[in-house]
Amino acid sequence: MTTSAVLAGLGSYLPPRRVSNEELSERFDTSDAWIHSRTGIRQRRWADVGVSTGDLAYEAGHRALKSAGLGLGASVDAVILATTTPDHPCPATAPDVAHRLKLNSAAAFDVSAVCSGFVYGLTIAASMIESGHAERVLLIGAETYSTILNPEDRTTSVIFGDGSGAVLLRSGTPDEPGALLGFDLGSDGSQKELICIPAGGSRQRSTHLPPAPQDTYFTMQGKKVFATAVRRMEESSTALLNRVGWSIDSVDHLVGHQANLRILYSLAEQVRIARDRVVTNIEQVGNTSAASIPLALAHAAEQGRFKVGDRLLMTAFGGGLTWGSAVMTWPDVSPS
Ligand code: UT7
Repeated sequence: MTTSAVLAGLGSYLPPRRVSNEELSERFDTSDAWIHSRTGIRQRRWADVGVSTGDLAYEAGHRALKSAGLGLGASVDAVILATTTPDHPCPATAPDVAHRLKLNSAAAFDVSAVCSGFVYGLTIAASMIESGHAERVLLIGAETYSTILNPEDRTTSVIFGDGSGAVLLRSGTPDEPGALLGFDLGSDGSQKELICIPAGGSRQRSTHLPPAPQDTYFTMQGKKVFATAVRRMEESSTALLNRVGWSIDSVDHLVGHQANLRILYSLAEQVRIARDRVVTNIEQVGNTSAASIPLALAHAAEQGRFKVGDRLLMTAFGGGLTWGSAVMTWPDVSPS
């Protein structure tokens, strides 16, 4: 029998500070009515000053280990952190998180694929397990977008939130509940400017000029991204379902990147899946980028929404541009 990666643990963490649409309406020319009707968001969490992505990643990673019946210092071969907001440009944040989790000799690296980072990370983690390079991999998606939002940009400031989610994958077989059964990844760098932090990298530094303050913030051309997001996630999902031989009617849950409720429902319409099979938690957490899918998985699992053996289709889209999808069956795990 071939080897598959199997989900054995699931953890999530949200920083305690809730930021409501009403609070943002005091700071920006916006309203709860606009934000909720255009995005589906009512509130998001923002980390307190001094709390980093690595801190959030540690919390979700620790919980995923506990959910898998493991603890600090467990035998884990690799720690992968999907994030757009690493603690530093260099080094990666994952080695520090691995160290704090006492997973000291584990391979550890970050994946930079913006909102698609978790699906990219799943593909890498599963490939490491399928090839025999790893028995157990801890994959974390964590973000502190509050640290990169332009305080003068109402559009991005009302969308993004902070949080983290993590999965512990182990070596198993494709017939086991929890097996990851297929992946589809893609990118289009010709549209890199649609989602971008202009300064801070070698492109800007090579000019030897200090960056303009606004160039150090996250930027997004939302309207252009919207239509592309729906199309790419639809194409990626359909290609993957065809490859693994699943009909859309056999998919129990669509767990899409929580970018915008209107995007999720447009996607559902395009792939022809009923809205009641679409997992959403964006109302409470906003768009948490690479943390979005593991947070949605954890919150739906906490609500008892998934049954063992259910078929899940995950799909994401983000800066790069990048996109990706993955399919799995649901295991007997309790999120921590
Ligand atoms: O996560 C990775 C990928 N990201 C996405 O997939 C995000 C995709 N894009 C979106 O979700 C939506 O495009 C947004 C939520 C970002 C924006 O919604 P929209 O319906 O596309 O609005 P818009 O940008 O077309 O703006 C419509 C109007 C504009 O005013 P005018 O020009 O019509 O007078 C904006 O200035 O809404 C205005 N606006 C706001 N009004 C109140 C923009 N932001 C706000 C705001 N509050 N926060």
